[in-house]
Amino acid sequence: MYLGGFKVKSIGLDTSGKMIVRGPQKAKGQIMVSGSKNSVLPIMGASLLTDEDIVLKNVPDLADVRTMIEILESAGKEVERYDDELVIKSSGILNSEIPYEPVRKMRASFNVYGPLTIRKGYAKVALPGGCSIGARPVDFHLEGLKKLGIESNIEHGFVTSSLIKPNKEINVSLPFPSVGATEHILTTACLLDGVKTTITNCAIEPEVTDLINFLNEMGARIFGSETSILKIEGVKKLKGIEYTVIPDRIEAGTYIIMGALIGQDLIVKNVTADHLHSLFSIFEKMGSPIDYDSKRREVKISALQLSTLKSISMETAPFPGFPTDLQPQMTTLLSLVSGRSTITETVFKSRFYHIDELNRMGAKIRVEDNTAIIEGVNKLSGAPVEATDLRAAAALLIAGLVAEGETVITNVDHIFRGYEKIQEKMEKIGVDLFYVK
Ligand code: EPZ
Repeated sequence: MYLGGFKVKSIGLDTSGKMIVRGPQKAKGQIMVSGSKNSVLPIMGASLLTDEDIVLKNVPDLADVRTMIEILESAGKEVERYDDELVIKSSGILNSEIPYEPVRKMRASFNVYGPLTIRKGYAKVALPGGCSIGARPVDFHLEGLKKLGIESNIEHGFVTSSLIKPNKEINVSLPFPSVGATEHILTTACLLDGVKTTITNCAIEPEVTDLINFLNEMGARIFGSETSILKIEGVKKLKGIEYTVIPDRIEAGTYIIMGALIGQDLIVKNVTADHLHSLFSIFEKMGSPIDYDSKRREVKISALQLSTLKSISMETAPFPGFPTDLQPQMTTLLSLVSGRSTITETVFKSRFYHIDELNRMGAKIRVEDNTAIIEGVNKLSGAPVEATDLRAAAALLIAGLVAEGETVITNVDHIFRGYEKIQEKMEKIGVDLFYVK
């Protein structure tokens, strides 16, 4: 099977591939941003709310999307891919017991639990595994679903549900604007016929908005999109539709940050600036505003004069704040900006595993509580490093491309979870990557 242009044997928990990167390199030409992973995954889960055909466009070919296809097929859907289109049809049966493995390896798949329970009265889904960026609990999900009448029982690593009649008016208040919990609860509430659900302290990430647009086009009645208070009037039935997924703002941000280090008039295409204001303002704060062409929806970026950039203090935050999914990549950039910069991670408890690896390459970063304190150095040097999650893998790849010498990134298959056709896209801009399974 090919993934990201690489021949990979299987998409399991095995992330054992190695990427060999020789730096420094230059990136010149055009790189196209694909459809959003974090938008298409909840939208695929929401397709379980109807037996009618769903056609999704601008769907990236990623390991996580393939895992979600596996999950939909085990629930009884028939899924066909035609280039960047997915056609999701019902097979006539709907199965609400999902095998353990696919859910354990990808947290986003847990969001089928609520929709399957509403449709079948019962569901059995694996409790999602933690990963290197923290325990990743689902307590907000289960507490919210309980208000919707879904009782959950956890045993042997599975969550099993039963459905009791909910009140006619439901109020769910999220302790934190959790993206997954917001998406899971709002999706499930859509089919509570005749029930009015209000969710407060919702996440307002663009991917949540994309999911709401998708559901409303299916005939759901969700009000308050792009605000932290959502009101949902449950309906009896939702219809099949065609829908185009938004571009991936994290992939876009990753390539923009890469361009700031090794770009030579690199053009990043298919960029929605509204989804990346926080990144654009960080570049302004550093003294190098991003050159964005709003008509062509593209960024033009070249390697910055790092010694002239201002060091900064910043923090990650729920949207519209700076996305935690760009924090590792930003750490790589700031490790080469002279002076002292800090990044405070406010979304996840521990998302700094890339820092030890960057220090192996000559960065000077230390962590105090949930803040990375970065003393800028004037160069990084290639070294053997290990990727611990998808965005750490991206941060290390960028570091390897700007460092002097050879970097070998082990456990690099994480990167296929979020960066479609990465070898092909890199080759097109003159960047050489060598991958060995
Ligand atoms: C989504 O994960 C994204 N994944 C993540 O992207 C992203 O980092 C995250 O949102 C934050 O923006 C997808 O959309 C598929 P959360 P999610 O619930 O929904 C805690 C990537 O690299 N929490 O917003 O799992 C949680 O531990 C991935 O593409 C609870 O305590 O994130 C975290 O500290 C990584 N209990 C915080 O809330 C819960 O029930 C935010 O998590 C749920 C979450």
